Amino acid sequence: MTGTAAAQDHAALMDKVYRGQRHIYDFTRKYYLFGRDRLIRDLDAAPGMAVLEVGCGTGRNLELIAGAWPGVACHGFDISTEMLKSAAARLGESARLAQGDATRFDSNALFGCEGFDRVVLSYTLSMIPGWQAALNQAAAALNPDGVLHAVDFGDLSGLPFPLRSALRAWLAKFHVSPRLDLPSVAARLAEEQGLRLEVKCGPLGYYQMVRLYR
Ligand SMILES: C[S@@+](CC[C@H](N)C(=O)[O-])C[C@H]1O[C@@H](n2cnc3c(N)ncnc32)[C@H](O)[C@@H]1O
Repeated sequence: MTGTAAAQDHAALMDKVYRGQRHIYDFTRKYYLFGRDRLIRDLDAAPGMAVLEVGCGTGRNLELIAGAWPGVACHGFDISTEMLKSAAARLGESARLAQGDATRFDSNALFGCEGFDRVVLSYTLSMIPGWQAALNQAAAALNPDGVLHAVDFGDLSGLPFPLRSALRAWLAKFHVSPRLDLPSVAARLAEEQGLRLEVKCGPLGYYQMVRLYR
């Protein structure tokens, strides 16, 4: 299968997952996508900075980012046009939105921007088949002094076994695969692109956070 055909298949799959789910997404995900508010608090953005969320979903994070860090220019893209309908309805003119594939996006073609001061990946890598390429591209889109912030599921090691395996099985139904090698892949990338890496873990290993500083 060509890269374009695979991307089209993945876009169709994400639309299928989220066509109905997007209407209950924000309410339901607040109970299990932990660490997103911490990521937003830690962004340390300043007025005039350009922020990009890769896989912005319903626009929930971009709305909170704009509120927490006034004066930033918010950008988001997603492979799912269904999710983008929710994001556009929520954000209106306050953010620039586009449809794109995280594994091969071109910031200039999508937004007319060369790079971003903050790039956010929130519970997106665990849904992208070629997630290593997506991380690589997101880091490459950082401006000098820019920071990439990623949050995603961790190894869930602090959860009791039945709960851990039930959660993993349930996530798999939504095509979510926790990326347990995220820290080592990010470390390799940091070395290749000359970035500084920070890795943090959420309580009970529920989520992991990666920051890459250019
Ligand atoms: C679990 S949702 C997270 C949405 C949002 N970031 C949040 O924290 O609420 C995952 C999002 O990633 C998007 N996605 C999956 N694969 C993608 C890809 N290859 N390129 C861009 N977006 C993708 C999905 O369409 C979905 O909106």
